Amino acid sequence: MRFPSLSSQSLHVRRRQAALSCIAAVSLLAGVLTGAAAQERKTAEPLATTSAAVVAHPNQAKRQRIVLSRKDRCVPRGRMLRLKGYTRRKVIALTFDDGPGQATRPMLDALNRFRAKGTFFVLGRNAQLDPAILQRMVLDGHEIGNHSWSHPDLSKGGRLAAEQLADTSVVIKQAIGEAPCIARPPFGATSPQLEAVAKAQGMLLVNWDIDPKDWTGADPDAIAARVLEGAKRGSIVVMHDGGADGAKTRAALPKIISKLRRRGFEFVTVHDLLRLREAPPE
Ligand code: NI
Repeated sequence: MRFPSLSSQSLHVRRRQAALSCIAAVSLLAGVLTGAAAQERKTAEPLATTSAAVVAHPNQAKRQRIVLSRKDRCVPRGRMLRLKGYTRRKVIALTFDDGPGQATRPMLDALNRFRAKGTFFVLGRNAQLDPAILQRMVLDGHEIGNHSWSHPDLSKGGRLAAEQLADTSVVIKQAIGEAPCIARPPFGATSPQLEAVAKAQGMLLVNWDIDPKDWTGADPDAIAARVLEGAKRGSIVVMHDGGADGAKTRAALPKIISKLRRRGFEFVTVHDLLRLREAPPE
């Protein structure tokens, strides 16, 4: 017999939410300490800007001497690269890449208004600047995935890929109390080497089967039309909440969600779509 995966999923969500309340207190303290450190740095290096400081030390994990333990990791099974889910359920995963950024809050508001769940593949360098939005994503029932630290091509695998993914997972873990189970390679550029790196860190690679090309500046109607045309059971849609203002993508969401709902689709996280971390069979 299998436990219903819905209950393992909600247990999982409850655990994350409990962890979040502790983290809120810790981040408050960390905020005070970081503020003090920033103040000190400001005095010492008056020419340093925030963005320069972020680019200057990408290796967050080493700097803070944090290593993710085995229990933080998922145990990916099956194929290490997924483009869609294979399911009889009428479910679709809307995913948002390259944030968090200016567009993220409006995107969350839209998803929440329509009671749709989404998955955000965040960049570590952006996530470290706004851990509060990662906490909100989880509290609202969305999922967070790893999209590398600074969006280089990681398809050669090796040390660059390992560091980019590990550093980002550390920032996510610090924000929400749990490391991600899924990673999306920058540019969707993958390889067996990168799959092996992700697997060693407990993550599946997740690309997509529907690309409405919102990054080209397409109009909301064009974005929505491409999604509506391609939508199938288990589809994964790639969109963006980082890199541009996201207004057109945000404007396409009501049409996408309401039209697909009328066809009977539900909007779930990648975690739910792929049934990750199911309780083992008894
Ligand atoms: Ni990207």
